[in-house]
Amino acid sequence: MKVLGIETSCDETAVAILEIDTSGLRVLSNLINSQVKIHSRYGGVVPEVAAREHILNILPVVNEALEKAGLKKGKIDAIAVTAGPGLITSLITGIESAKTLAYAWNLPIVAVNHIEGHIYSNFIAPTEKIEFPALVLTVSGGHTLLVLMEGLGKFKTVGQTRDDAAGEAFDKAAKLMNLGYPGGPLISAWAEKFSGDKKIELSRPMINHPDFDFSFSGLKTSLLYSLKKDKNWKKRVPEYAHEFQQAIIDVLIKKTIRAGKKYKTKTIMLAGGVAANKELRRQLEEKVLEEGFSFLKPDLKYTTDNATMVAVNGYFKAKKKEFTPWKNLKVNCNLEI
Ligand code: KG4
Ligand code: ZN
Repeated sequence: MKVLGIETSCDETAVAILEIDTSGLRVLSNLINSQVKIHSRYGGVVPEVAAREHILNILPVVNEALEKAGLKKGKIDAIAVTAGPGLITSLITGIESAKTLAYAWNLPIVAVNHIEGHIYSNFIAPTEKIEFPALVLTVSGGHTLLVLMEGLGKFKTVGQTRDDAAGEAFDKAAKLMNLGYPGGPLISAWAEKFSGDKKIELSRPMINHPDFDFSFSGLKTSLLYSLKKDKNWKKRVPEYAHEFQQAIIDVLIKKTIRAGKKYKTKTIMLAGGVAANKELRRQLEEKVLEEGFSFLKPDLKYTTDNATMVAVNGYFKAKKKEFTPWKNLKVNCNLEI
């Protein structure tokens, strides 16, 4: 089976083609046309600008993905597309393109939830057997969730952020220190420059709360007040970046391990754009293995938004014939998992 995946939920126009046969999954093409340079001028994604770029990019990226895969137009078996959540004006380009291609090529469509897509990034090239129940720490710019995965397509959210998402917190912290956009990779790069004794201490919100929810807006405020009190903060950016990153990592790890134990999960997985964070990957893996769970993380290129994760999710749904007739397919920003 060959599945073409389309992802346009935010500022990446992404198209991928996946081939699945008895020997497993093969990524034939994985293209991402990123608008990050355009939006960095504004310090964040401007929905109207993103929408226009998606319209210009989508068909050239589809054509390039087919070319890279060595396939003629229409020579696939299904189209998988992100239906939500995300920016409505961005999602609509992916959805309408998928509908048009499905109509023209007479193909079935699978609607994919963006967050479930991120979770399935762990299924692209798993380094361990994925045993259920599994717990997935899903951390992106829009979401921070602890998801219990009881089987393929069986998800239950056991914890989530009450305010800012982890990636959003990184982005806002970078803005407070004028580091640029997107903040996650920049904070992480600045944090690497720090060595020595750390004097700054930021809060670890909700770290000891008995539930599995998160709150990161207080951490951002804690950073803001620390910067305001410190006349020399500009000389201490590596230290602030390091402490901010570590505060997020500490909370994420503590809650993930506790939830893993409570729900007796066999596997713990990491997913979403923040899964690109080197320190989070390293520290979480160390702790998870120490506690006796098996651990999976996606390859770096499948952490931030991409269409391969959408195609993989699409494949599992297509196998169960979970198609959506193109006439009924709509953007759904309120999709929950
Ligand atoms: O999953 P994603 O590409 O888009 C959403 O679905 O939101 O995630 C983007 C988020 C941004 O907030 C970005 O700052 C964050 O992921 N991010 C990182 C890193 N790379 C991307 N956060 C921390 N460390 C990183 N290395
Ligand atoms: Zn995403």
